[in-house]
Amino acid sequence: MMMKSSVSAVALMALVVSSAQAFLSVGGNGNTHVTISGSAIMTKTYEVCKAVAKSEGREFEPTGSSVEELLRACMGTAIGEVSGAKLLTALNQIYMQNGLVDRNFMSSAPHHFNNEAFSEGRNLIIQGIAAVKANVRADNLQSAREMLTEGRLGRLCHTLQVFMATCSNILNDHKMPTCSDCASGQCPNSLLPAILNGKFLTSGYMGLFSSVKPQGKCSHGGDADLSSTQNPRGGISKDESHSYNSDLHNTAVNLAANATLELLEDVRVVIGDKEYLRTRDPDAMKSKISNLKANGGGDLPEMCLSALQLALVGAPSSSHIYVFTDAPAKDVGLQKTIISLIRSTKSTVSFFMTSARTRKRDITADPRTDFQVYYDVALASGGQAIEVSKSSLSQATDIIVDTSTSVLVTILQCSRSPGHVEGFPFLLDESVSNATVYVTGNGLAYTLRSPSGLSQSSTVLNGILGTIHKVGNLERIQLNGTEKGLWHIDMTSTKPYTIKITGQSTITFIYDFVEEFKGPHPGYAVIDGHPPADFPAKLLLTLTGEKGPEVLEVQEVSLVEVSGLTVSKGTTEKMSNGNVLVTVTEVPEEFVVLLKGKDMTSDSLFQRQTTTQMSQSKLAIKLKRALLFFHHHRLNLESGGSAQGKVSLTPPVDTVSGTDVTLTLEAEAPGGTDSNFAVLRLSVVSKATDLTPPECKMFDVQGHCSSSSCSSSIWELYINITDGPGSGIESVTVQQGSGNFTQNELEDGNVTMVTGHYEALCCSPSVTLASVDKVGNVGRCSFKIEISAGSALVSMTVPLWACLLAFALSLLCDTFSL
Ligand SMILES: *[C@@H]1O[C@H](CO)[C@@H](O)[C@H](O)[C@H]1NC(C)=O
Ligand SMILES: *[C@@H]1O[C@H](CO)[C@@H](O)[C@H](O)[C@H]1NC(C)=O
Ligand SMILES: *[C@@H]1O[C@H](CO)[C@@H](O)[C@H](O)[C@H]1NC(C)=O
Ligand SMILES: *[C@@H]1O[C@H](CO)[C@@H](O)[C@H](O)[C@H]1NC(C)=O
Ligand SMILES: *[C@@H]1O[C@H](CO)[C@@H](O)[C@H](O)[C@H]1NC(C)=O
Ligand SMILES: *[C@@H]1O[C@H](CO)[C@@H](O)[C@H](O)[C@H]1NC(C)=O
Repeated sequence: MMMKSSVSAVALMALVVSSAQAFLSVGGNGNTHVTISGSAIMTKTYEVCKAVAKSEGREFEPTGSSVEELLRACMGTAIGEVSGAKLLTALNQIYMQNGLVDRNFMSSAPHHFNNEAFSEGRNLIIQGIAAVKANVRADNLQSAREMLTEGRLGRLCHTLQVFMATCSNILNDHKMPTCSDCASGQCPNSLLPAILNGKFLTSGYMGLFSSVKPQGKCSHGGDADLSSTQNPRGGISKDESHSYNSDLHNTAVNLAANATLELLEDVRVVIGDKEYLRTRDPDAMKSKISNLKANGGGDLPEMCLSALQLALVGAPSSSHIYVFTDAPAKDVGLQKTIISLIRSTKSTVSFFMTSARTRKRDITADPRTDFQVYYDVALASGGQAIEVSKSSLSQATDIIVDTSTSVLVTILQCSRSPGHVEGFPFLLDESVSNATVYVTGNGLAYTLRSPSGLSQSSTVLNGILGTIHKVGNLERIQLNGTEKGLWHIDMTSTKPYTIKITGQSTITFIYDFVEEFKGPHPGYAVIDGHPPADFPAKLLLTLTGEKGPEVLEVQEVSLVEVSGLTVSKGTTEKMSNGNVLVTVTEVPEEFVVLLKGKDMTSDSLFQRQTTTQMSQSKLAIKLKRALLFFHHHRLNLESGGSAQGKVSLTPPVDTVSGTDVTLTLEAEAPGGTDSNFAVLRLSVVSKATDLTPPECKMFDVQGHCSSSSCSSSIWELYINITDGPGSGIESVTVQQGSGNFTQNELEDGNVTMVTGHYEALCCSPSVTLASVDKVGNVGRCSFKIEISAGSALVSMTVPLWACLLAFALSLLCDTFSL
């Protein structure tokens, strides 16, 4: 039996950044795709939060501009403390994925709309946006975030489609010259007059490996583009601001930001505001725990790791997962996969083992089939392995309730086997409440010491410093009123023990291992799996606290051994927005990250430790997508060499669109001395065939509105909404406008139609209706009644407008130009 706690995991693109996160870009001096998505997400979240607060009759008044303050205002006060960490993790994923387009698809013309690869680019977009929506609907938010890579481009699809349908001047003539050379070789605008006058849409060629390009064609430009040295020289890129293109660059950036906003708006319409801002319900979890106490043991304990694997794949990252078992695992072969998933998701796994670990019916059995695997998995994830009798299980599950808060932080975690006499200092700061010490082991003996010199021995259950609860091999010490400063726990046991100290605080940090990449748009990319051995480890940390990262100062970041004494300090480099790049040259064999810092608002020193144990590896696994797949279950590798394999996945025919597949790949050196992994999340999505949003036709407007008496007069609108040959209408909602909307669904042959009636006071003269079809295409129509002495006039969104917007949006695609 198993449960997951994922309290207040804020979902999806849920929420906010405090302004541009430029940290991913090393070369760029300003707007990159990352910063564009960042501020778009913040703007959208702000809007959604405001709408949700209004619908719940709450005020929406953020106390400041930090992510954390916006989040607080958004969630309301009812849910208590909220942590920015989950949110920042989600956002970082979106940013990183966005940046990955620049790395992983560096030389893919369609991904950048280079080389005039318009229709290929459009196909990518169409399939991408369909996948995002399918994932959102199927509740696979992790995949949805990853899909936003294409989704960022996704919004363009609508507009490009419209553009292609209504304005046909896309240049698909790969012979027609588009640019001219100039004497300086850095031409401010080298597009040929024929292209400008004919309003043709073209794009620059990118030559990463060769300078060859078709005769007379424009180049992308920049150091990485070898083709820009060829006549016509220079480039038409607007990715980075240079003196010769700053106007075009700024226009492109604004358009890109708006395009991203529109995509988010579409997603919002498809899933609804509440879902968009979801938090999870802690009460539901607590009630599950009480049921669990009634049941006691497990259902299929022998398949324990298989069940755990499902939980790890399904839970949001950084979840706490609890496994109840009374038997050794039969599926220990999954241990490596489990550890890979733990490292990839940074989730914590704890075990409640309700029978003696020494039980051995068959003396010849493989010793690995004992309980050892549970101890190993718990240690690797920062969880606990608790041995407890069935009758006292309910006392042990208090630790589950301890983790049912989004602001749980780990202050210290370590393990000693064999145990030895050792003092462990730990720092409690002003922001920490509910500090709890967990010690596991047999024959435990220790003394707690407070900063002011008070002490309490482990034999005193109700002491001056705290209350000790003992159950099985676990001792849980709730500190009584938390004195700030440096505490100690002095261990005197010589048997194996683990120590974990947690508290509740909004001050925390998240991190990823990163590697620098070069190319036209250089930056840092997150490393999947273990960072490479024989190189310094680079980590990108993001701090978060109640008042934002600006008031938090990093003093020291080190990689520390959990089971040993090695501590390797890193050098830190401050990036924007509380992000810190840490470089560690001497990396311990296995480690967690320990951060020490100062909260400037309270002048209080703090320490935080991560829970997932990581290591470096000499093995590297690189995943390439978009390959034709063949079968390969196992690859053999020569020392120092590399090998390529292909994996084929065939989803069953009746797979629901939006279903997630998690693929774990492991590489292991002989004897298991080294290993690495890659985790890939894929979505099964039906190929998008319905690309047309529902269409609405306004056929009657009634009412007269005059400015003098707007509160006493009403106007009415009658509309018909159809989805043509598409998948059918799923919902129609009022996105903007404070009137009443009623609708009726009609079947007409095999076409469904919605007829609607909108009625509003003249004080609310405009309305926007959003209609979503069954595959998530969003159509909108806006109406505004003219306020005058004369008769009512209605203005509608017209294709011309869409065409112009599309044309403008096309600037976004790196090198589009008019
Ligand atoms: C982006 O959207 C805003 C608000 O809708 C609008 O005022 C602005 O002009 C748009 N920018 C561009 C470049 O279209
Ligand atoms: C934290 O401590 C407060 C008061 O000290 C208490 O009311 C609250 O229940 C504790 N929360 C948890 C999750 O233990
Ligand atoms: C801590 O415990 C001691 C002894 O039980 C008690 O006298 C004291 O009031 C407690 N302090 C706090 C802050 O609760
Ligand atoms: C709208 O739908 C109604 C009901 O089917 C139909 O009678 C009417 O002709 C439609 N109007 C337009 C403009 O399509
Ligand atoms: C329903 O749609 C199908 C496919 O477009 C078409 O062949 C069929 O004739 C339609 N049926 C009716 C009753 O309109
Ligand atoms: C909208 O509906 C409410 C409740 O039925 C009604 O009180 C209100 O007058 C309606 N508003 C308009 C503009 O018709």
